[in-house]
Amino acid sequence: MKVATHQLRCTECGARISGNAVNSIFRCPTCNGLYDVIYPWSSLSEGEPLPAGSKQPNPSALRWLWQERRSSTLGIDQSGVWRFRDLLPIVEDSNVVTLREGNTPLYELPRAGRALGLDSVLAKHQGMNPTGSFKDTGMTAALSVARERGFEWVACASTGNTSAAMAAYAARAGMRSIVFIPEGKIAWGKLSQSMDYGALTIQLKTDFDGCVNVLTDLVTRFPIMLLNSVNPYRLEGQKTPAFEMLEQLEWQVPEHVIVPGGNLANGSALAKGFAEMHHLGLISRIPKISIIQAEGANPLYRSLQENGGEELIPVKANTRATAIRIGNPASWRKALRALRTTGGWCEQVSEQEIALAKAQIGSEGIGCEPASAVTLAGLKKLVAQGKIGREERVVLILTGHTLKDSNYTIDYHRGELFTAEENAQISASDEALHTSLRKPPIVLEADTDTVFRALEEQMKLVHA
Ligand code: F0G
Repeated sequence: MKVATHQLRCTECGARISGNAVNSIFRCPTCNGLYDVIYPWSSLSEGEPLPAGSKQPNPSALRWLWQERRSSTLGIDQSGVWRFRDLLPIVEDSNVVTLREGNTPLYELPRAGRALGLDSVLAKHQGMNPTGSFKDTGMTAALSVARERGFEWVACASTGNTSAAMAAYAARAGMRSIVFIPEGKIAWGKLSQSMDYGALTIQLKTDFDGCVNVLTDLVTRFPIMLLNSVNPYRLEGQKTPAFEMLEQLEWQVPEHVIVPGGNLANGSALAKGFAEMHHLGLISRIPKISIIQAEGANPLYRSLQENGGEELIPVKANTRATAIRIGNPASWRKALRALRTTGGWCEQVSEQEIALAKAQIGSEGIGCEPASAVTLAGLKKLVAQGKIGREERVVLILTGHTLKDSNYTIDYHRGELFTAEENAQISASDEALHTSLRKPPIVLEADTDTVFRALEEQMKLVHA
């Protein structure tokens, strides 16, 4: 099943251009808006006929085909992104750069569900991708387009996960990659990945937002493809977990999907995936998508509170969830549209709430990086506000693997994450929860009796 090629549509002024005509910063020259990828089957306004030669994909045929490809041994079929290629920009098979991304698990979080009084809390773990984050689904799509268009160099500014993914996919494609990261403000696991995969890694003495400014200048002067999430092809890959989630739920649509918000592209990518499935008749309604920010990096939350989302209020970002330490997010208007079209909410959560939620996800045997844990922390707030009811099914998008930022986890369990001042602000009930979750390593003499006595102590604690 082949569908005709795509166009890009400006999300602000609606101008349509061919994919090849886009400028190096992926912004509309008329209004500076960002683009969406549209297809003959998705671009139609009411009553507009399909272009000659193109066909509306048939929902039953798509479901069957996507299922069939699971048993194929071809790389593009085994990829949890390219398995859905009927709804992606057409790329010659030989240009597809894949590490068999996607195909990530959907886990139950029964303890979190019970604690919140909800029947079903699920976690779609995008940290189970080849480089350990959801960025792989977007990178396979954008890197394949870069290869098809003959680029030799690709680049991104990153808080660490985009750069890890880009470096890996560029290496697979035999292309060169340049990474700009804020010096000293990314997790070591992520920094080590970009070096391991052979990227030219440049630490700039600025924050993420400063890195974006330098990179934007650079790509207008040199033939380098920009791979930040303003690149709309990234989002085409990042919409596919929505398809996969629905397959995993046997096409029963959950009521809520909750994502972390940083540069604010991922919520809109998933919203696009759901909207396209709805448009094609694969699903009968769309879940509410909610976006959660860290209190110290909350430009969207603030803007909604202070001006109803009219203008973005950039902030000087600061949070230990370094992945989402972003004060001037590029895709905030797209995120706003996702909130409005799906009926979801934007919330903010504190450093303490993030740490507690991360430990709770870890204690279910799943784990995630700090930025991903904002989803559970945000869910708690939405439930407390009465916005999510007991029977409504919730899917948290866990965006990164727990090993991405092991320093955070170790500091938490050793009780060294927070300052004395922050610790003094923790409520007695939260402190009790933290105490039950913290599992610092115990150092003992290498002697059986000593170890046995220590174990007895632990067992008493468990049975107390
Ligand atoms: N979670 C993780 C683990 C991330 O790495 C990011 C973004 C987000 C959530 C937020 O997604 O930007 O689409 O709102 N990381 C980017 C990076 C900025 O450079 O790796 P978003």
